[in-house]
Amino acid sequence: MTLRLNEDFPVNEEGDIVMARRLVREFALQRGFGSTDITRIVTAASELIRNIYVYAGKGFMRVSFNEEVVRVGITLTFSDQGPGIPDIAKAMEPGYSTGRSMGMGLSGSKRLMDELTIRSEVGKGTTVIIVKWLSK
Ligand SMILES: Nc1ncnc2c1ncn2[C@@H]1O[C@H](COP(=O)(O)OP(=O)(O)OP(=O)(O)O)[C@@H](O)[C@H]1O
Ligand SMILES: [Mg+2]
Repeated sequence: MTLRLNEDFPVNEEGDIVMARRLVREFALQRGFGSTDITRIVTAASELIRNIYVYAGKGFMRVSFNEEVVRVGITLTFSDQGPGIPDIAKAMEPGYSTGRSMGMGLSGSKRLMDELTIRSEVGKGTTVIIVKWLSK
């Protein structure tokens, strides 16, 4: 399985998480990020892919490069058609988990990235978008 820029990478099984991490690392390297930022991006991606796998069973990841006049960056989108999140503010709180887990995936990802946006609708699914800008 390969991941092309702007194309959906399916997440269907636990093994896909390992592959997705590797692909995100390669793209971040290609975009010019240093090792510290790459670790942050891969860690956040890993948490969000795991959420797809755990809560929705399956979904997609998509990677794209941001090109603005004054800055460039990377955007990763994670979407699923799972149960959705009833209270997004609560889900963003460190330590909040509906499972028996740490509840650090979403809050930790927000901390590691420059931007994190969640769209979610109960019964429809969830989309999480994270952005990291390349510092000059
Ligand atoms: N894709 C998703 N679909 C449905 N619910 C989700 C999704 N992602 C997160 N959630 C909900 O948000 C809560 C918080 O997610 P978060 O990743 O922060 O913590 P966690 O998965 O419970 O624990 P951890 O990630 O630390 O192992 C989850 O317990 C779950 O209820
Ligand atoms: Mg999680």
